[in-house]
Amino acid sequence: MPRAVKFTRYGGPEVLEIHEVPRPQPGPGEVLVRVAVAPVNPGEAGIRQGVFADIWPAHFPEGQGNDFAGWVAALGEGVDDFTIGDEVIGYLPRAAQADYVVSPAAILTPKPADITFESAAPLSAVGVTAWAAVDAVRPEPGDTVVVSAAAGGVGSLGAQLARLRGATVIGTAGPHNADFLRSLGVTPVEHGPGLADRLRVAAPQGIDAYIDTFGQGNVDTAITLGVKPRRINTIADGRAVARWGVRSEAQEDVFSRSVVAELADLVSKGLLTVPISTVLPLEQVQDAYRQVQRRHTRGKIVLSLVPEEERSAEAARITSGL
Ligand SMILES: NC(=O)c1ccc[n+]([C@@H]2O[C@H](COP(=O)([O-])OP(=O)(O)OC[C@H]3O[C@@H](n4cnc5c(N)ncnc54)[C@H](OP(=O)(O)O)[C@@H]3O)[C@@H](O)[C@H]2O)c1
Repeated sequence: MPRAVKFTRYGGPEVLEIHEVPRPQPGPGEVLVRVAVAPVNPGEAGIRQGVFADIWPAHFPEGQGNDFAGWVAALGEGVDDFTIGDEVIGYLPRAAQADYVVSPAAILTPKPADITFESAAPLSAVGVTAWAAVDAVRPEPGDTVVVSAAAGGVGSLGAQLARLRGATVIGTAGPHNADFLRSLGVTPVEHGPGLADRLRVAAPQGIDAYIDTFGQGNVDTAITLGVKPRRINTIADGRAVARWGVRSEAQEDVFSRSVVAELADLVSKGLLTVPISTVLPLEQVQDAYRQVQRRHTRGKIVLSLVPEEERSAEAARITSGL
């Protein structure tokens, strides 16, 4: 039986269970995808803990995971832009961590053959979020841009995308991530008390734009440093948006298959790296969320539903219709 991560009550990672579920059937305009990998994201924990129960209630048994990559396994009526066996990148809130998912064909993006499933899957979530945040602050050549939590999932991609626009990028991180940020062409500055002073030293000419992916006072720091509100974007601090009128562009504002395709093309060309810190089998989903909820992940933690060594055989099985 196909597996799917489910939870039947609000709580911590311990409420996550692997259920056996029927294989879903694609309807008209839909595609059945055999999921190869599905990343974990810290925001998913909030929904599972019931923090957002008033606005986004769970419907038990609720699924978990948003982004995924895998193979087209069956086509619904009227789908003619995919073929069985095609490698695709997708986004399905609260559903992605499952052996099979059904997605509207219109929101699936072809995966370039030369990028890994691990690099591809996060593009539809943290990749698109980073794209939105960078686009919101319009970095230009000559600008100095700060990215908070620059070693994290959104931050590591946002820092690279801002560099691709010609900006000099300063990233905040702990000391253990300083060399990692340098490897991305980003100047590291330690987060925590005294951040504004350290940023003044790192950027004596001033800071033009600020991409906040962590909250907890980063927008206040940006305002203190004289960054214009229209060139500050936060995806993690609604209070600061209300107080300062800064921008809050995020995944849901720009998601489209063309943005995912552009990101995948950048990875394919070697211009963008998706750092993967850990790949865990689906059975370790609780551990994966325990790790991501510590908020010190470098890049992404990804759940593997089909182990790498079995992927060629799985692709052949799907293509042969077995
Ligand atoms: N609305 C949307 O579209 C959307 C989409 C995706 C994410 N989000 C939100 O965006 C935020 C970032 O998500 P993510 O997946 O990038 O997170 P993440 O990968 O879990 O971020 C981890 C990073 O945070 C850094 N960090 C820890 N403490 C910090 C501090 N005090 N100051 C600055 N950085 C610190 C860590 O660096 P060190 O280990 O070096 O400390 C680590 O690299 C989350 O709040 C998430 O919910 C929103």
